[in-house]
Amino acid sequence: MKIQSYCKSYDVSICSALKISEFTEGENYLVIADKAVYAAYKDTVFHGIADDRLILFDAVEENKTIESALGICKRMAEISFKRSDTIISVGGGIVQDVSGFSANIYNRGVKWIFVPTTLLAQCDSCIGGKTSLNFLSYKNILGTFYAPDQICIYMEFIKTLSAHDYLSGLGEVAKFNIMAAHDGLGLLEQCIDKLLSRDTEALLFFLERSLSFKKKFIEQDEFDKNVRNLLNFAHTFGHAFESVSHYAVPHGQAVSLGLIIANIISSNRGILDNQLRSRIEKLCVQLISVPLNREWFDQEKIVTSMKKDKKRRSDKLTAVLFKTDLTLEIVHDIEPNEVGSALDEIYQLLVSSDKI
Ligand SMILES: NC(=O)c1ccc[n+]([C@@H]2O[C@H](COP(=O)([O-])OP(=O)(O)OC[C@H]3O[C@@H](n4cnc5c(N)ncnc54)[C@H](O)[C@@H]3O)[C@@H](O)[C@H]2O)c1
Ligand SMILES: [Zn+2]
Repeated sequence: MKIQSYCKSYDVSICSALKISEFTEGENYLVIADKAVYAAYKDTVFHGIADDRLILFDAVEENKTIESALGICKRMAEISFKRSDTIISVGGGIVQDVSGFSANIYNRGVKWIFVPTTLLAQCDSCIGGKTSLNFLSYKNILGTFYAPDQICIYMEFIKTLSAHDYLSGLGEVAKFNIMAAHDGLGLLEQCIDKLLSRDTEALLFFLERSLSFKKKFIEQDEFDKNVRNLLNFAHTFGHAFESVSHYAVPHGQAVSLGLIIANIISSNRGILDNQLRSRIEKLCVQLISVPLNREWFDQEKIVTSMKKDKKRRSDKLTAVLFKTDLTLEIVHDIEPNEVGSALDEIYQLLVSSDKI
């Protein structure tokens, strides 16, 4: 798949075998690898990578900072990096965000290859060219647009993901395929058992559909000024769950919770029929594995967090809602008490599904 970005077009390929050393021949390079991924694939995928060309990164939100990005830049300076030299990032969204930011600011941009290792990064974040860092108490508040030159997806990485991280990626897969209409929901329902058991063929099918769907939005509106905003579906509520749980709920699982909340509000407004709502709920609750806490479903806490949303225009709340005709709409008039009722409803749903 080719993605057209404002300054270049880049390739996303599915690799049946992977050796990072193949990206390094004849060039100065630096590999930024997720520490856990390196430990699991040291003798295979990373075989032949010199220690002095390797930075191991501890992929936790607390490290997604400007200091980490500058640390990578410092290392680039020490080995006299030029614009034509290559950063190779191997990891999930955290490694992508920090190393992509560094690749962008050093020398106003160096060559960058990204090898996503989580399902979330493979099916979603690897394309679209956003790099984000956390700053003060704000998540993703610093950032740039900078696309990799090449993305290589190697499905084997999925096998070592924890259940929480795997389901997090599956939440994004579900979101894209539901949004994509054309019976994306029906296909997910048919294949959910295969997806839950990490069946590679099923995963690849939905992963390619997810990327193709996202491609249309990012090519049309790379800088997130209009239609790309629709990809925020489930995210305003999702970000609030991440924030109130202090990131105990991983991103994609928070998106699944956010998707259910958005649909409850749509159905309470009469724009989403109940049958569709319950089909989506039934699917999405299966994608929640982290222990949940009653306090995270508090109206005041969630609304306070939603008020920090970058896309909010007025005192009321903004979100993307899904409709019975399978279209999406951005609304800017959500009242806090609508969110409160939806929180009560999702809480009951999660209790009756043994998730709380
Ligand atoms: N730039 C973007 O467009 C974009 C989009 C969505 C999310 N994000 C960001 O991505 C981050 C979340 O990323 P994520 O969910 O991909 O994961 P992550 O980078 O947070 O990693 C999650 C965990 O999985 C481990 N891990 C990664 N790959 C593994 C593998 N193959 N086997 C075993 N363990 C592995 C990591 O060490 C870590 O413990 C958030 O910070 C979010 O803000 C960025
Ligand atoms: Zn997301």
